[in-house]
Formats: sequence, C-alpha cells, structure tokens
Amino acid sequence: MTGEQKPSGISEERRPLVLDVRDSVKHFRMRRTSLTGKRPQVHAVDGISVRLRAGRTLGLVGESGCGKSTLGRLITGLDAPTSGSVLVGADQHDVTAGAGGKVQAVFQDPASALDPRMTVRAAIAEALGGVARPERERRVDEALAAVGLPPELGARYPHQLSGGQQQRVCIARALVAGPDLILLDEAVSSLDASLQAQVLDLLERLQRETGTAYVFISHDLRAVRRISHAMAVMYLGQIVEEAPAEAFDRGLLHPYAVALRSTEPGIFQGGSRIERVVLRGEPPSAVDPPAGCRFAPRCPIADDHCRRVAPELVDVTTDHRVRCHKPGGLTLTTAATTTVADLGGES
Ligand SMILES: Nc1ncnc2c1ncn2[C@@H]1O[C@H](COP(=O)(O)OP(=O)(O)OP(=O)(O)O)[C@@H](O)[C@H]1O
Ligand SMILES: [Mg+2]
Repeated sequence: MTGEQKPSGISEERRPLVLDVRDSVKHFRMRRTSLTGKRPQVHAVDGISVRLRAGRTLGLVGESGCGKSTLGRLITGLDAPTSGSVLVGADQHDVTAGAGGKVQAVFQDPASALDPRMTVRAAIAEALGGVARPERERRVDEALAAVGLPPELGARYPHQLSGGQQQRVCIARALVAGPDLILLDEAVSSLDASLQAQVLDLLERLQRETGTAYVFISHDLRAVRRISHAMAVMYLGQIVEEAPAEAFDRGLLHPYAVALRSTEPGIFQGGSRIERVVLRGEPPSAVDPPAGCRFAPRCPIADDHCRRVAPELVDVTTDHRVRCHKPGGLTLTTAATTTVADLGGES
C-alpha cells in the first residue's frame, strides 16, 4: 500500500510535537427549539484527535460545513472545546489557558484582518507585544524581508497595498513572534493563481527556515496537497481519513476521500483520466448526524451494516487512518463505472 513511501519513523520522531488535539468536540447550541422542546446542537467538531510535529504541515479538506474552520478555531484557542483538549507548542501547553503567541492564524481576507488605521510596521510590531524598541524594529525589518516586502512598504496603510501584499503582511505578522504553529484558513484562496503559487513558495521556504508547523485549510485540493505532509479528510465533524500526502495520489481508502479527490480537475491515474465520482444528495445536517456511518446515506458502496454501525477511525499503518467498514471498496478505476451506472436515470 503506502508503506514504502512513509517518511522514516526515526527522523519524524525527533521532531517535537507542536500540536496534540485530543478527542476534541465542539457543539453549538442553536437558538431555535425543536418540537421536543430541546435546543438542537450542531455537531461541528465531533471527536477529533490529530497530532502535528515541528516543520510539518497538516492539510484539512472536506466540503463546506464539515467543521474545518471550527477545528481551526479550537487549535488557535479562539474557541474553547465543548470537551477534549488542545495542547500546543513544544511544551504542550493547553491552548485554552492562553497560547502565549505560540499559535498564530492567517485567514482568507487580508483586508478585513488588517486595521485600516495602522501602518504595516505598526501592524507587525503589535504582534510582538512587549518587545522593546530597537529589538522590535529589527524584528519587524526581518519579518518584512522574510515575506519579500521592501522596507519602505512598512510606512504604508493597508489600502495602499495589493491583495497579495496585504496577505504577505498578515503572514509577516503571524511569523514575527516565532510561533510554533500557524493556522492558515483559506489563506491563499482570495489570491489569483500566480500569487497563490508565490505565497505557497514563501510559506514552504519560511517553514524550512523556521521549523514552524502549519495547519492548512483550503477548498483547493491541489494547493493543500502541494504544501502538506499529511492530509486529513473531514466529513460532518469527524476525520474520515488521515494519510501522508503521497497516499493522496494513490492509496486513499475512504469512499468519501476517493470521491473528493476525483473532483479535482484534470487528475490522472496510471495514464488515464479519472472519472469524477458524483455523490448523490446533500451532506446530511450536522444538527442530527445519521446513525451508523455518517457518510452512508451518500456512499456508493454502503450496506445495511454501514447504516447501522458507526465505524471507528482505525490505523492502516502508523500514519494512515481510516473510518470505514469497507476501506478501499471504492477505487477510482471502478469509480468511473459506478458513476455512469448511478447517474444513468438521475441527471
Ligand atoms: N458560531 C456558530 N454557531 C452555530 N453554528 C456554527 C457556528 N460556527 C460554525 N457553525 C456550524 O458548524 C458547522 C461547521 O462549520 P465550519 O465553519 O467549521 O465549516 P467549514 O468546514 O469551515 O466550512 P467552509 O468550507 O464553508 O469554510 C456548520 O454546520 C456551521 O453552520
Ligand atoms: Mg471554513
């Protein structure tokens, strides 16, 4: 399977753990009450455990509403989990007790992330907190240089910058205090293709130089695969598959992960074009997750057992986990046949 592609266990274990999410749950109570008089809960994140080591990137993928940003907010301490814990930094600090600059975040829209009344220098310096003047100025200069912005740009205000420059400022601000971990939630999604490539190059270079770990969230599977060492596929608040990035090309086992990958434009396997797997129906609501496997209502290979019994996330190898009763049952080659048969009477 993917055994021969695994990075060497020894060198990996020497990297300090900088993120340890343990069985984290985030439920939101809704305002409206249901017919039974109870206030329904949105199961945005429903029992997620992931770990990340220094200098590594974990990509989070899955369709809109599956809980990626909610998990991101738990990781950065912006929200407290309903249960479970999030430990961050080389000293495994509980993030709800204050991350102390160990975790930073960059979001999709740099214009709204930057204060319009603050110059670039002031915005970056603010992230340094109490660092005194000469040292502070030096570090701001370094951060500007690190993201490839000329020093004179530091005197400008956000509206005097292009979108790409604004996002570089956000990255500089995230990096300047030397965090262990940066959450990048759709951080390159608002940039055009060539700028996206530049910012991804920049992030990779900065990671090599500083050893900062990234959690990278994007709808763009190609971008995620490019920058990530490992990828987690989420469905309705849970991880359904976590695998090394290489396994994303061949070796995905969960039918949803396989289907998701097939939606990437222009992907090939063994020289032939992969047929897109079209999933029937909408994702079920996170308010009332179905019994049994949460993906079963849309899964092309689900059976009665799948609909009754919820599968556990189990290890396939040391760094590959899957939550499915029939792992590997839907392959991309057979997917083409399945799709044609499935869609025959529908569209
Ligand atoms: N503050 C909140 N109150 C109530 N429900 C919320 C809140 N934040 C998120 N949700 C719900 O939690 C679920 C997960 O949302 P989340 O934003 O994490 O998804 P996502 O994977 O980031 O989606 P997208 O790809 O669209 O950004 C959704 O059903 C959403 O409506
Ligand atoms: Mg989101």
